[in-house]
Amino acid sequence: AVLLSTSLRPGRSGARPRSTPQGAGARGTGSPLLAPPRRGSSGPGRRWLLSTPIFYVNGPPHIGHLYSALLADALHRHRGLLGPGSGRLATGTDEHGLKIQQAAAAAGTAPSELCSHVSGLFRDLFFRAAVSFTDFIRTTEPRHRRAVQCFWAALQGRGLLYKDFYEGWYCTPDECFLTQAQITERPDAQGRPCKVSLESGHQVHWTKEENYMFKLSEFQEPLRKWLQGNRHVISPEPFYQVVLRWLEEDLPDLSVSRERNRLQWGIPVPGDSTQTIYVWVDALVNYLTVAGYPDAHHAWWPAAHHVVGKDILKFHAIYWPALLMAVGLDPPEQIYVHSHWTVRGQKMSKSLGNVVDPVACFKQYTVDGFRYFLLRQGVPERDCDYYEEKVIKLVNSELADALGGLLNRCIAPSINPSGIYPHFSESCFRKGSDHIDVEASGRALAEDYELVASVDRLPLQVTDYFEHFQIYKALESVVACVRQTNGFFQRHTPWKLCRDNPAEKCWLDTVLHVTLECLRIYGILLQPVIPATADKLLSRLSIKPEERAFTDLTFLPRYHGKPCPFEGRKLGPDMGALFPRLETPRGHQMEIKGLRP
Ligand code: MSP
Repeated sequence: AVLLSTSLRPGRSGARPRSTPQGAGARGTGSPLLAPPRRGSSGPGRRWLLSTPIFYVNGPPHIGHLYSALLADALHRHRGLLGPGSGRLATGTDEHGLKIQQAAAAAGTAPSELCSHVSGLFRDLFFRAAVSFTDFIRTTEPRHRRAVQCFWAALQGRGLLYKDFYEGWYCTPDECFLTQAQITERPDAQGRPCKVSLESGHQVHWTKEENYMFKLSEFQEPLRKWLQGNRHVISPEPFYQVVLRWLEEDLPDLSVSRERNRLQWGIPVPGDSTQTIYVWVDALVNYLTVAGYPDAHHAWWPAAHHVVGKDILKFHAIYWPALLMAVGLDPPEQIYVHSHWTVRGQKMSKSLGNVVDPVACFKQYTVDGFRYFLLRQGVPERDCDYYEEKVIKLVNSELADALGGLLNRCIAPSINPSGIYPHFSESCFRKGSDHIDVEASGRALAEDYELVASVDRLPLQVTDYFEHFQIYKALESVVACVRQTNGFFQRHTPWKLCRDNPAEKCWLDTVLHVTLECLRIYGILLQPVIPATADKLLSRLSIKPEERAFTDLTFLPRYHGKPCPFEGRKLGPDMGALFPRLETPRGHQMEIKGLRP
């Protein structure tokens, strides 16, 4: 609980991918990227059914929700670029349960109205955020009700449910039952003692009622075996260890229904109108509903890859796999876990009034600017902090200045008056052996060969980081190459070279060609994270939509003695700055300069 409620620090163990792509045949080969083999998501005939959690509709979306969705979106887009294979990305809203029933009552509205309204807010947000979902599920839909009732019948048919009196603590905001050891006492706003969940701090209530129980305890051993046989099924690795530790403790049976007189807003238990199915069973089955359960899920199941926040890990890594095993289905192939966003060091909460609205962020930083910030700064194994100045500084320095500036410098009419993808000259930039003697290499310097090696390596490195759910590291490595390319450009001062001198023209064109080739690779690799900006960049370079897959990542083919289809091609139209510099709001400028306390 401590690990999960504060930050999960991996030490160094989670900081490196399992296999680093250094060398890996990429250096100097100019070969197109081959995805490393991995179960499910890579290789020929790959299939993946990526999912975000489905979101509660008791309040509007905030940046934490958006982060869950963006992680899944970036993984989905990345896999789509890897080559043949088919994937889906499902998201949606979790609309039943006591929490929603109470929120609707408090708002004086019918639950169905509240659900439709807030579900619409999530859907609109994801459209606006360019989340490329292929399905948006609402748990109030008839297809889902049917799936949940079939799932229930399957559990019952296998003798894994029984009726009993449940007595214990229930936490409505978290929609979960807690043991005595999971609660503590704290004073409430009026200073009265009140029982709360140790992990979330939310208030709990004593509940005593007759419920259906699921024989979860029977699955302790199968769960352990499944985890021990699939060491990479939960990543990052520290979360895998957390789940293993949970499985060393007692695993009591789970209450999976509530009395209907307390909870009307939910799916009734088939054949027992006095009971409503527990909202977490209802919610988890959404992953099967979107796969086509109960008739057509076999084509997709178990290629399920769930992205979840650390607060809902137990539901996904223990309850869900056990429920699946109980009905004779395989557990999901992959569970990706992320940590939480705080705001200026504090947990986001309505009472603190610090909940950050993602739509306001899009207005302030642009959609791609904010996508970039969350995915570049978000480290799944630990909590990350949001504040405005940090977004502005990062986005200006990496997108506007480093990337946008680089493009600007090498396509400016003053330096490239014909507006074409210039020619590469082998005599200026000779194919070097491993180490470089300047005489033999035309005008290229040792650092230039290092740049070529870095960019050659980059696609494999980026793919490896994506596969290991380290999108922030993928971006870090792209940025390092962008900076290296700026260094290359700066070093050779092409603006000082004279086009009228044939030898200088040759070298000038070669410098521009190498820079544009670097930008082409960065544009392709950045598509999963900043799709609109990457499109703008690639269109400016005149790279056609069908030339933007990972199979098109052969870097600098002319250097490797192969033809370059882009050489001599007219560049795309000028559509203004690649990425606008963000303004620091006036108040903050004063704060930064120390003019305001
Ligand atoms: N409805 C359940 C999930 C059911 S999935 C079968 C739920 N919903 S939620 O709306 O509360 O949370 C959805 C996701 O948002 C979770 O992954 C959660 O971790 C994530 N986040 C909520 N607050 C967050 C932050 N402050 N930061 C990052 N993500 C956070 O749980």
